[in-house]
Amino acid sequence: MMRSARLPLCLAAVAAALLASGCEREARRFSTAPSQPTASAARLGSLQPGAEQQGGVQLAPVKDAPYEGNAWGVNQGKRLFRWYNCNGCHAMGGGAIGPPLMDAEWKYGGDANSIYMSIMQGRPEGMPSFGGHIPEDQVWQIVSYVRSMSGQLRKDVEPSRSDTLGGGEAENARKPEQPRPAAPPPKPALGASQ
Ligand code: HEC
Repeated sequence: MMRSARLPLCLAAVAAALLASGCEREARRFSTAPSQPTASAARLGSLQPGAEQQGGVQLAPVKDAPYEGNAWGVNQGKRLFRWYNCNGCHAMGGGAIGPPLMDAEWKYGGDANSIYMSIMQGRPEGMPSFGGHIPEDQVWQIVSYVRSMSGQLRKDVEPSRSDTLGGGEAENARKPEQPRPAAPPPKPALGASQ
């Protein structure tokens, strides 16, 4: 008798737990206010990294990447990655003019804050600075999408197969890479004239 009374209670608890974990993944944040640019988001140079031009290093923003667990936000990021022509230089993440974003190697760091800084401030060898051009909120969506390219997010948050032709392997079908610093550039051969 006791046992049969407890069963529905138990089922209700399990259902509540499942609902709670599903909510964040499914949330569609249509009402997200365009965020105010923070100091770290300021675009400091007209073309290239402000930090370099100003002779200082800016700290990464103290903010948790808000879309890492939100499937809708990551999919928005996937759309924006094409709309802002990131794939013009990075292809579909496999690299072209810019380095691949779907592998394990990260020149400037593969954590969310480093990717945010790469996008906002640009990087010296050809990565334009998008700070001041893209709303910060959208940059965070792109950041989480970029991380999904190498399988850094939860499988049920990462985008599945693209609707377009030739969209490549679905992000949620990729194996998670172990991010590591990029290999240093080769040293010039001894005796090579500079
Ligand atoms: C004009 C070409 C171009 C465009 C457009 C471009 N990138 Fe880049 N990106 C580069 C290049 C080149 C680098 C390497 C810079 C360096 O090594 O200093 C780079 C570097 C990066 C890095 C750092 C990679 C690492 O290994 O640390 C990230 C992240 C990145 N880009 C994301 C993006 C995103 C997201 C967009 C779109 C909002 C974008 N890029 C648009 C050319 C581009």
